[in-house]
Order: sequence, then C-alpha cells, then structure tokens
Amino acid sequence: MIKVLFVCLGNICRSPLAEGLFTAMIKKKGLAGKVQCDSAGTSNYHIGDSPDPRTVANAAENGLELNHKGRQIEADDFYEYDYIIPMDDSNLRHIKAKAAMVGFCDFEVYKMRYFDKSGFNLDVPDPYYGGEDGFQKVYEILSRSNEHFLTFLIKQHQLEN
Ligand code: 4NP
Repeated sequence: MIKVLFVCLGNICRSPLAEGLFTAMIKKKGLAGKVQCDSAGTSNYHIGDSPDPRTVANAAENGLELNHKGRQIEADDFYEYDYIIPMDDSNLRHIKAKAAMVGFCDFEVYKMRYFDKSGFNLDVPDPYYGGEDGFQKVYEILSRSNEHFLTFLIKQHQLEN
C-alpha cells in the first residue's frame, strides 16, 4: 500500500480537500487497494474539527463529500507515510524541521504544486482569510495537481500493470 499524507496549516481547508479529491481519483482508477491518503495540519488550531464550511460547500458544488476531522501531523506520520505533500513553503519547512528531529525515515516530500503544470512549485494559496472565489481557485489547483500526482505514482510504482 502506498500511503500519502497531504499537509496544510489548519487541516480544515486545503489538505482535507486534497484528500477528498485524491480519494475520489484513486477510486475512479480502481486503485483503492494500492493507494490511500489522509491529511493533517502543522498547527493544533483545529484538532477534531470538520473542514471549514466554505470548503465543504465548495466541495459539494463540485460533487465531492468530505469525511475528515482535523488532526496535527505527528512523529509517527514520518514513518507511516511514503509521500508527504505540503501545500506551501511554510508547511514544507515545518515538515523538514520536525522530520529532522525524529531520526531516519524515508518518505518523499513534494510540494503539491510540484505537480501543477500551470504553476510549477508555487504555494497553494490559503483561502481561509480570503473571499469565496478563493475556494474554487484552490479546488481547481488541487484538482489539476492531483491528476498529475496520481499519474506520477502510477508510473513510479507501475500501478496499472
Ligand atoms: P488551511 O487554512 O491551512 O488550508 O486549513 C487555514 C485554516 C485555519 C487557519 C489558517 C489557515 N487558522 O488560522 O485557524
């Protein structure tokens, strides 16, 4: 099983949406037995919380139901996951600093938009403090990036053979 963890700051906007989108893509490709994902936040602000109502509404408009409760990334995640996918540079710095303290672990880390051909390695903007249109923009970025990320995993691990 290939295990993927999406990471943002609060774990109520960007990363739960990335998780929901990727879960749907995995299912659609018939890869649910080979790839699984979860999401977490670098902060402890929203532990146990459902995704932000604006994220839930946007996901629903796009035909997606989100099932996640906020949690904070922890040391075990660095051993447990094969791929850790931060949404922005701040999340990436946090992951590298934390991972350096837990000793050997062999996960790979890529920013989400490493896989975005329309914005290579940019941050996924945080929609939390912005307007409603920010949520659809994030949806489109995550949708595009995750399509390419899944293609990358399929090639890397020969998942369709
Ligand atoms: P997220 O957005 O990192 O995409 O979940 C945020 C959610 C909450 C906060 C900041 C960003 N906050 O400060 O509570």
